[in-house]
Amino acid sequence: TTAPDTAFTITRKTDGISAAERAHVLANPGFGRAFTDHMAVVTYTEGRGWHSPEILPRQPLLLDPAASVLHYAQEIFEGMKAYRAPDGRILLFRPEANARRFRKSAERMAMADLPEDLFLEAVTQLVSIDSDWVPAPDVGTLYIRPFMIATEAALGVKPAAEFKFIVIACAAGDYFSADSGLVSVWVEENSVRASRGGTGTAKCGGNYAASLNAQMEGKAHGCHQVLFLDALERRWLEEMGGMNVMMVFEDGTLLTPPLASGTILHGITRDSLLTLARDRGLTVREEPYAIDQLYADATAGRLKEVFACGTAAVVTPIGAFKSTRGECTIGDGKTAGPITSSLRQTLCDLQFGRTADPHDWVKVV
Ligand code: PLP
Ligand code: COI
Repeated sequence: TTAPDTAFTITRKTDGISAAERAHVLANPGFGRAFTDHMAVVTYTEGRGWHSPEILPRQPLLLDPAASVLHYAQEIFEGMKAYRAPDGRILLFRPEANARRFRKSAERMAMADLPEDLFLEAVTQLVSIDSDWVPAPDVGTLYIRPFMIATEAALGVKPAAEFKFIVIACAAGDYFSADSGLVSVWVEENSVRASRGGTGTAKCGGNYAASLNAQMEGKAHGCHQVLFLDALERRWLEEMGGMNVMMVFEDGTLLTPPLASGTILHGITRDSLLTLARDRGLTVREEPYAIDQLYADATAGRLKEVFACGTAAVVTPIGAFKSTRGECTIGDGKTAGPITSSLRQTLCDLQFGRTADPHDWVKVV
């Protein structure tokens, strides 16, 4: 196959909503519902490679009912955001890291390798054409969802020979709708998210489908999210349904589960926060941490703060854990801890282009 064509053909939407209607939607976008006008689509055909890059009015897909994605779940995705800076520029945060992780996910799921340049060009083209959809910084961000599906019509269980890479986007406010800003987390003791050798480090749709029954269980217990434990001992903290988890102890150290087990998503927010924490001289530990220890440390007052982190969640303080063993409150359960708050502030200041960017993480669209 030759080098992919990265010159996108653009077909503009002609019957979009009015600027006034869009302003109304952008004032209170929620999460994952206020979609923009366009989508980027690139097609892969075995033998030909990636071709026909297009920007189209956002529209339903035409899929053969035998398309592999519908049967064997050959699907991967990414989650990233565009931010509006004080001077009006639109910024992406570490987009190359998403492009790289997408390739890793594709490799795990035996899907076509998508060149990072093509991923970045598709995202940039879409954000540029739909730039009016990026909310004001006090309201939120543009959430970008690149994904790849296997479109070949074939019921034999084998890697597909045809794929589509698609990018859609939506205006987004807070992911969680918790009044206090703190969330409560259900500790899942029955189902697991990932096991060694499984697909835990790939961002594939199946991981999320498999997390939904636990999420429902958590909801039934009044929780916003689920914490998954390791598959083997059902003891070690791994991550939540859609975000990584971090703990802050009374001596100021920051702890998060290590990636070595191959069962945790390599969160870009996780990596960024560990770097920002080290920058300010905090001791950072990527070490296993057991759920019994969490309950004991929280009760004894040694564990001061816990937070969820991810693109959608940003940095969200956790006020309590609940499980069959009962409830345990973190801090006073009502207010975000100082390290959680200041790490969130530092991260957001960078993402929204309000501070200097020593790590060269921010890219102007
Ligand atoms: N863990 C899971 C399971 C996720 O879905 C996400 C979200 O993308 C994360 C962690 C956080 O990753 P990132 O910070 O790259 O968004
Ligand atoms: C993200 O944070 O981008 C995710 O994909 C997680 C999902 C819960 C929205």
